[in-house]
Amino acid sequence: MATVLTSPSFLIILYLLSIPLKFAQDVNFIYNGFHQANLHLDGIAKIHPNGLLQLTNTSNQQVGYAFHPLPLKFNTTSTSSLTPSLSFSTNFVFAIVPQIPNLGGHGLTFTISPSWDFTHAVTSQFLGLFNSKDDGLPANHILAIELDTLLNPELLDINKNHVGIDVNGVISVESAPASYIPNKEGKNISLDLLSGNPMHLWIDYDEAEKLLNVTLAPTSSSRPDQPLLSRPIDLSRVLLDSMYIGFTAATGGATSDHYILGWSFNKSGQAQSLDVSKLPSLPRLRKRKVKVGQVIMILLVAVLLVIVLIMIIGAAYISRRKKYEELREEWEREYGPHRFIYKNLYKATKGFSDKGLLGSGGFGKVYRGILPSSNVQIAVKRVSHDSKQGLKEFVAEIISMGRLRHRNLVQLLGYCRRRGELLLVYDYMPNGSLDKFLYDNEKPNLNWIQRFRILRGVASGLLYLHEEWEQVVLHRDVKASNVLLDAELNGRLGDFGLARLYDHGTNPQTTHVVGTVGYLAPELTRTGRATTCTDVFAFGAFMLEVACGRRPIDRRLPEEVILVDWVFGCWKKGAILDASDPRLEGNYVMEEMELVLKLGLLCSHSMPAARPSMRQVMQFLDGNADLPELPYDNACFSNFTSTETSEILLSIPSSYGNGSAPSSSTTDSILKSGR
Ligand SMILES: *[C@@H]1O[C@H](CO)[C@@H](O)[C@H](O)[C@H]1NC(C)=O
Ligand SMILES: *[C@@H]1O[C@H](CO)[C@@H](O)[C@H](O)[C@H]1NC(C)=O
Ligand SMILES: *[C@@H]1O[C@H](CO)[C@@H](O)[C@H](O)[C@H]1NC(C)=O
Ligand SMILES: *[C@@H]1O[C@H](CO)[C@@H](O)[C@H](O)[C@H]1NC(C)=O
Ligand SMILES: *[C@@H]1O[C@H](CO)[C@@H](O)[C@H](O)[C@H]1NC(C)=O
Repeated sequence: MATVLTSPSFLIILYLLSIPLKFAQDVNFIYNGFHQANLHLDGIAKIHPNGLLQLTNTSNQQVGYAFHPLPLKFNTTSTSSLTPSLSFSTNFVFAIVPQIPNLGGHGLTFTISPSWDFTHAVTSQFLGLFNSKDDGLPANHILAIELDTLLNPELLDINKNHVGIDVNGVISVESAPASYIPNKEGKNISLDLLSGNPMHLWIDYDEAEKLLNVTLAPTSSSRPDQPLLSRPIDLSRVLLDSMYIGFTAATGGATSDHYILGWSFNKSGQAQSLDVSKLPSLPRLRKRKVKVGQVIMILLVAVLLVIVLIMIIGAAYISRRKKYEELREEWEREYGPHRFIYKNLYKATKGFSDKGLLGSGGFGKVYRGILPSSNVQIAVKRVSHDSKQGLKEFVAEIISMGRLRHRNLVQLLGYCRRRGELLLVYDYMPNGSLDKFLYDNEKPNLNWIQRFRILRGVASGLLYLHEEWEQVVLHRDVKASNVLLDAELNGRLGDFGLARLYDHGTNPQTTHVVGTVGYLAPELTRTGRATTCTDVFAFGAFMLEVACGRRPIDRRLPEEVILVDWVFGCWKKGAILDASDPRLEGNYVMEEMELVLKLGLLCSHSMPAARPSMRQVMQFLDGNADLPELPYDNACFSNFTSTETSEILLSIPSSYGNGSAPSSSTTDSILKSGR
């Protein structure tokens, strides 16, 4: 018996027996990959070495078929469940990888058909099943479940991502957007057939119920209880007794790779669901292509982002650089220690905010600031200068003036230079300028002791500039608003030499007189040449100003417009003390007041040689020398009686004399005198 059983003839008999058995009996199979499967392939369908069934690739206008090679018995007249019936159960895993993301075509089907000869069928929307003539004819006897990835309005497609039941034609009798309801969550989740991800489709027909159920789910999910489509349908009117089962797919203008990864079929009962872990994998290449595309996209976006970021940072850097930009030249190198970094000044003054504005005038604005590094209070003067001419000399001068040290001079700490702008950094004077005390009612009145001390201080400062330093420094703009008061109300002369900036910068052919009207010596307006004598003249005007509490030229009092003339008039009347500031209410040392008024007149002498030097002024103020007798001649003092008077008066800036000139202001007029 053993020999018989193992003999080749017995095996052959068994094999021969098995064929009619398979043909006749209920068919059930399960393919986790198709390497061993005996399938009838047609079109461009092929089986990959790993068992992956590919129905189409992304070539245009192609079809692909894979059919079970043997026909199945569908008994359309059966009444008994024992004989072969129309019931069937199948499930398969498919993947559709579009050529272009989200644009693929046309779709694939599971088909039950009387034949696997589809030579008359066409591509595209006919899915390799029909052509335009036979589409929809009952003679087709075809049932297909379509996975349609293109919207064909003429076929009444609901969208480009749906599952449909097709009977004899591609116009579905029922369809639904690709979706599923997971058993756990119970909420409808849509799926994208073109995602390229494997998906599971179950198709079940029960003869007794005459109900065709189609259920879709991603491979990650188990079979949902609720089918996507549940269609009452009498397949006995559709199918024939002998039918082939299999897949079709078609491409058109739009294309996809259509894959079947595994297939389970059962004619006599519920088909076993495929084991997803055993299925072949999809070709890496295409997936990678997509991934490479994504990587390129991501890289591109990243590069773009980086570029944008660099541009933003660059713009910020440039604007920051522009904001803090300075001008620095080779010749400035020796002034290095006196050079301030603009950024520090910017921060110290909180961006030159108006809150810290101490005053503004002809030379520019003055801001209060606190140096962040040392907490030292400073005053920053922003002087605009357009001309490069003479700037070098001026900076040199300014720097050398930075070496001036005197308790009655405002200390220059250093400078900074930008395009069109020079910044001078000074010690901060908490009490502001003297003119505020003289003319603003907000500031307390200064008593005579204070005033006299200020006059002496300023005189000693000016003397230092003229005679006691290594060079002769002309102030050029002595006046009350340029005298600043420190915390102890000591007078300190500020802004020395600044007027030179304009002097240097101007066209040499036209000489400009720089200074302030009322303090300008008559010869200065004629010749344009500043000397120590012109400074003395201005100091004289300043002395009268402090003693009388009045500006050298007061336009508000037309008959007493020129202070010198008025004081001189008082002196001639023998009542010089009448000129004293009424705010003092007579509380002053008479000798000192008389001295100051007379000395003021003497300094205001129209002949430069007749004026005392600052050293003499100092001696008079200290009482170390006696004041010479004043000349009795009007002409010696009425320096505005010439034809120049009208012109100078006309040149008075409009802001001048309104009683609210900002502190430290240099209300200068630039007079043309080179006619
Ligand atoms: C698709 O398959 C056909 C037949 O195998 C082949 O000639 C064609 O080059 C393939 N197209 C692509 C895009 O792979
Ligand atoms: C189909 O079913 C009918 C009734 O049950 C039976 O008479 C017939 O033989 C069956 N046909 C086949 C081919 O099994
Ligand atoms: C089809 O689905 C319905 C509703 O979920 C269910 O009652 C029926 O048993 C299903 N039939 C088959 C053959 O799966
Ligand atoms: C999900 O909702 C869509 C309509 O948005 C419907 O057509 C489809 O049948 C639903 N899916 C399931 C599994 O019920
Ligand atoms: C087919 O169904 C029968 C009856 O339920 C079952 O015994 C068999 O295992 C199934 N075969 C497959 C491959 O699903």
